[in-house]
Amino acid sequence: VSVRDEKNEAKTGKMWGGRFAVSLDPAIHRFTTSLPFDQRLARYDLLGSLAHARMLFERGVLARDAAAPILDGLAGMLRDVESGSLAVSGDDEDVHSWIERVLGERIGEPARRLHTARSRNDQTAVALRLYVRDAILRCHRAASSLAQVWLEQAAEHTETLLPGYTHLQRAQPVTLAHHLLAHFWSLRADNERLEAAYARAGTSPLGAGALAGTPHPIDPARTAALLGLPRVFPNSMWAVADRDYVVETAFACALLLVHLSRFAEEVVLWTSAEVGFAKLADRVAKGSSLMPQKKNPEPAELLRGKSARTIGDLTALLTLLKGLPLTYNSDLQEDKEAIFDALDTCEASLRAAAVLAGGLELDVAKMRAALHGGFLTATDLADGLVVRGVPFRTAHEQAGAAVQMAERRGLELWELPLDELRVACPRADEDLLGALSPEASLRSRRSPGGAAPAQVREQLELARAALDKGLRFSAEQRPSPIRLAFEQGRLLDEEIV
Ligand code: ARG
Repeated sequence: VSVRDEKNEAKTGKMWGGRFAVSLDPAIHRFTTSLPFDQRLARYDLLGSLAHARMLFERGVLARDAAAPILDGLAGMLRDVESGSLAVSGDDEDVHSWIERVLGERIGEPARRLHTARSRNDQTAVALRLYVRDAILRCHRAASSLAQVWLEQAAEHTETLLPGYTHLQRAQPVTLAHHLLAHFWSLRADNERLEAAYARAGTSPLGAGALAGTPHPIDPARTAALLGLPRVFPNSMWAVADRDYVVETAFACALLLVHLSRFAEEVVLWTSAEVGFAKLADRVAKGSSLMPQKKNPEPAELLRGKSARTIGDLTALLTLLKGLPLTYNSDLQEDKEAIFDALDTCEASLRAAAVLAGGLELDVAKMRAALHGGFLTATDLADGLVVRGVPFRTAHEQAGAAVQMAERRGLELWELPLDELRVACPRADEDLLGALSPEASLRSRRSPGGAAPAQVREQLELARAALDKGLRFSAEQRPSPIRLAFEQGRLLDEEIV
């Protein structure tokens, strides 16, 4: 370190101070710093730095007398960050600069060797990938918990009838189990998307340098393995420019929130006096500051509203990348707040949704009552006529006429006297009349994936297996080798996997 370097670094306060004579304008510093938000990457950057330093040591780029204090210093910082005794603060320009500065304060001169064969461009990319993977797992687990709540409720309600709706008009009898499982399957697909995003984020960019690689004899596959990342970048320019895994994660979050918003909207509808299929337990409802009688489904409304944020985050990220030339550009620093927000919102919403779902007091009598007066089994009448040889289009017409007749007489379809029904539907018989109750209709819907209780019981088995698959996925994710070596104090051992 020349005297001049140290002087200028002190003067500009920057790790890149050498070529600058005057320090950064404070307003520009405040505008460009990412420390206020990227500080949550600290633990992930420290792990990335540990892996990098360990690899440099193994490759002989760092001698033991430098590697030992660096690994030790980074480990100490990681311990202190995780215990809360070391808080990220200062006027550093980002968390990466903060780590290097604090490491320097702790271990002195050797810290100046850590950044060998590394750039903040590959450094920030690997830290963000590790962060995103961790946060995806938290969302994934929270989604499994909500899925479990729906599954348990479904298992209790394979015989609970209610109208299924199209156009928000009563359509055909279904069961509450079938309805809840429809939400379950959306969430299962969300978890599959999270798993795919997790895999996508599993490519290590560490070792790309600023953009073109490095002359030092590094081993990017080794740092990837140490970090538990299954793949290594094939192209150093791509490595520092790629944020597709961020977009894909944000998309998984946004669609998941859209699904939650659909569930939430049903909670709002169902708990309205107009529908009344459910009431909210006190612990999941809120009141009005003015109207003493109110009990509002605020958690559900907020779930509905939170989806807007995640759609905004996804839109921001896509817009950020659109037209961005290769490779790293500071625009990319804007990726963080958007993806942090999407993942935070996703996890918090899932946890709230699970509590909300558990706080629904379902009124099965109200659901049952809603099967009346809407001629929900008119399709069964048409289908029964088809079985008796009538072409479907004709049967549809005849059943429609029967609906008109029942409506005029103020009767349910199954209450029409057979001779009157026959005026509209000449092929109708006693058996067909008997098939027009909501229960009979439900039991007849035995096609695969249909609403019949027998089908739904099979579906429940599939759902349990799918949930188990998801639970296995999250249980299989193990701490990375570098993390284990850190925890076991073996960072300088001959062999650490
Ligand atoms: N704070 C930066 C970010 O979040 C880190 C990378 C900075 N690289 C650079 N060449 N300025 O993207």
